[in-house]
Amino acid sequence: MAGPRAHLRGALHTIETASVDEIRALQLRRLQDTLRRVYANVPHYRAGFAAAGVHPDDLRTLSDLERFPFTSKADLRAHYPFGLFAIPREQVIRIHASSGTTGKPTVVGYSQRDLDTWSDLVARSIYASGGRPGDIVHVAYGYGLFTGGLGAHYGAERLGCTVIPISGGQTEKQIQLIADFKPDLIMVTPSYMLTILDAMQIAGIDPKQSSLKVGMFGAEPWTTAMRSAIESRTKLDAIDIFGLSEAMGPGVANECIETKDGPVIWEDHFLPEIIDPDTGAVLPDGEFGELVITTLSKEALPVIRYRTRDLTRLLPPTARSMRRLDRITGRSDDMLIIRGVNVFPTQIEEIVCATDGLAPHYLIHVTQDGHLDRLTIEVELRDAAAGSRRAELGSSVRHRVKTLIGVSAEVEVREPRALERVLIGKAQRVIDRRTK
Ligand code: DLL
Repeated sequence: MAGPRAHLRGALHTIETASVDEIRALQLRRLQDTLRRVYANVPHYRAGFAAAGVHPDDLRTLSDLERFPFTSKADLRAHYPFGLFAIPREQVIRIHASSGTTGKPTVVGYSQRDLDTWSDLVARSIYASGGRPGDIVHVAYGYGLFTGGLGAHYGAERLGCTVIPISGGQTEKQIQLIADFKPDLIMVTPSYMLTILDAMQIAGIDPKQSSLKVGMFGAEPWTTAMRSAIESRTKLDAIDIFGLSEAMGPGVANECIETKDGPVIWEDHFLPEIIDPDTGAVLPDGEFGELVITTLSKEALPVIRYRTRDLTRLLPPTARSMRRLDRITGRSDDMLIIRGVNVFPTQIEEIVCATDGLAPHYLIHVTQDGHLDRLTIEVELRDAAAGSRRAELGSSVRHRVKTLIGVSAEVEVREPRALERVLIGKAQRVIDRRTK
C-alpha cells in the first residue's frame, strides 16, 4: 500500500537496518533538540541543568550527556500531575498513570505526534515479533490508565491488524474468544498467559491446536525458563516486549522473532545508558547496571536520563542495527510486580498503619497459585480487645489494597505480637516465594 506509512505495512523501517553512524547522527540531532525543548519549557530541567552547570549547547557529542543530571520517579511525583510537561496542557491529548508509593500515581502525557510515534513503534514491535498486516491480535493487557492495553491496541491497528480489545481478566471468555476468533497473536503478561493456558487445558482445549502463533509478553520480569514453559505447551513463539510509561509505554524495545536474543531498543527514539546504580557512573556496553533512558522524540513529556531502576545490560546489534537489552534481572529498588500491577511494600504499610485496631507491623508473602501470583499480607491485632473486630479489620485492609493499589490480597490477622520483630538491621517486609 502506498502512502506515508507504507514502510510500516509489511517491511522494516529504513532506520532499523541503517549504519551505526547514521543512527548516532540521528540520535545526536534529536538529543540536542530535546535538551533545548526541555530547557526552554520545563522549569525543573532548566533549574537542574543550571545546578549541574550545564546548558543544552554543551552537548556536542552523545557522550556529553553524562554531564546532565538524572531524572527519577521522585521528580515526576514532585511535579504531580502535569509539572514536567513540555507543551501546553491543551496540546496533551492522552494521559496515562501508574500507581505510586505515596498514593499519588506517576502521570505521563502524550501529544498527537507522541501517540503517532507510539503506534508506529508498537507496530514495528509487532512486525519484529512476526505479526503482519491482516493478522488477528488478541490484546489481553489491561486497558485504562496502564499503558499496556491502549499502547498495544493502537500499534496493532497501525500495522493493519484486526484487534480484539478484550483487556485482562475474564479468563473463560478469553479462551472462548481465542477458540472462536482464532487470533494469530496475543499480547499479554507472561503470568496471565500461563493462566490462560491452564484454563484451556481445564476446558479440554489443547493449546497446541490453538490458532495462536506469537505471544508478545512483557510488563513484568520473565525468564528464559518461562519462555520454554510457554513454548513447550503451545505452538507459540514467545517474544519479549519491554517498555515503561515514563518513556512511552510498551514498545520501547522489542525482541525479533528471528533471533529471540533480547529486546532491540528502538534507538531512533530512545537513547539507553547503563549506570552503576550506586555511583551513577556510566558503564560500558556489556556491563550490568541500571538502565537509564533519554527520550529523543517525545513532545509532551520528554525525559532526560530517566532512571528506570531496571537492572540489565546493553548487548550489540544482531537482527537490527540497534542495541539490545539483556533480560531484566530485577530492579534496584523494592518494587514488586504482582499480576502485572506494580506494588510497593510502603503502599501496604500506609494502609496497615492507617487501620485503627492493627499494630504497625506487617509481612508480605508472594507465592504462586498455579501460575497466578498470590499476595498474602500478615498483619497483627493491636491488642486483644481488637480481636472481636478481626474479620472486619482483615476485610478493610483487603478492600483498601484492592481499591488503592489495584491488586487482590489475602489478609491474615494475627494475634498481638505474633509477627517476628527484626532486632538488628533492616526489617524484612517481603518474602517472595515465586519461582523466578
Ligand atoms: O509495563 C509497559 C508495558 C506494557 C511493557 C506491556 C510491556 C508490555 P509500567 O507499568 O510503567 O509500563 O512498568 C514499567 O515494568 O520499568 C520494568 O520494571 C517492567 N517491565 C516492563 N516490561 C518488561 C519486560 C509497562 N519485558 C516497568 N521484562 C519496567 C521485564 C519489564 N520487566
